Amino acid sequence: MRRLVAGTGWKMNNGIADSIRYAEELKARMRPIDASAIDVCVLPPFTSLSAAAQAFADSPVAVGGQNMHWEDDGSWTGEISAPMLLEAGCRYVELAHSERLLRFGETYAQVRRKVDKAMSAGLTPILCLGETAREKAEGRADQVLAEQTLTSLGGQPDDRVPGIILAYEPRWAIGAAEAAPPGYVEERHRALRAILREHHGREAAERTRIIYGGSVTPENGRPILDIEDVDGLFVGRAAWKPEGFARIIELVADAARRKALDVARTDGG
Ligand code: 13P
Repeated sequence: MRRLVAGTGWKMNNGIADSIRYAEELKARMRPIDASAIDVCVLPPFTSLSAAAQAFADSPVAVGGQNMHWEDDGSWTGEISAPMLLEAGCRYVELAHSERLLRFGETYAQVRRKVDKAMSAGLTPILCLGETAREKAEGRADQVLAEQTLTSLGGQPDDRVPGIILAYEPRWAIGAAEAAPPGYVEERHRALRAILREHHGREAAERTRIIYGGSVTPENGRPILDIEDVDGLFVGRAAWKPEGFARIIELVADAARRKALDVARTDGG
């Protein structure tokens, strides 16, 4: 069974003082059982990473960066490397968020190098994938997901793929009024798992976590989590306050319990 993930990318929010306040409040609100059953991560801005990692050190919440460069060091003004993220206390790194691709011109060819570096450095990449509104309207969503996946994972040995978390984030549903409808999410997650199966084999496909992001809230998260191929939630606005993320964590932990029961029932029958 795949361990579910509750993650939040803070984007350009929460400086050092706010990050510490967030950590203290989230820890106070989290039920111990919630966090031991699932993987929980927060992705603060770079300047807050160390402080957040220290503030969460006595908790099951892990910290990650929102981006990184593929080289360890050198003349790359404004960039941050994998060893720097590790030194700051990171376990995760988010790659290919649509805001990086759309607003800063990053490409999946660059992302491929970043995935490779993150894996060899020992960071868990959270690799974002998703189609635009136009690609969706043209009926090309699954083709786009296949291209993005194959470009990003090209050259990764099959047994390394489950160490990567895929985040399906339809671009038209990020920062929007509503999340993608559960039926639509189900089709795309199934397509992504089929892409993994075709190119990396059944075992890698079954073990790799595929989480959903895009206008998730504590109110709309449950039907998305109930989809078999959805292995967690990746949340922006609704988790920028600790009370919001605490509710998301509870939802994911509840889903983990339901999915474990389903597996036990299937195995028993
Ligand atoms: P929102 O939840 O604010 O739509 O942001 C989603 C996102 O970008 C997660 O990476």
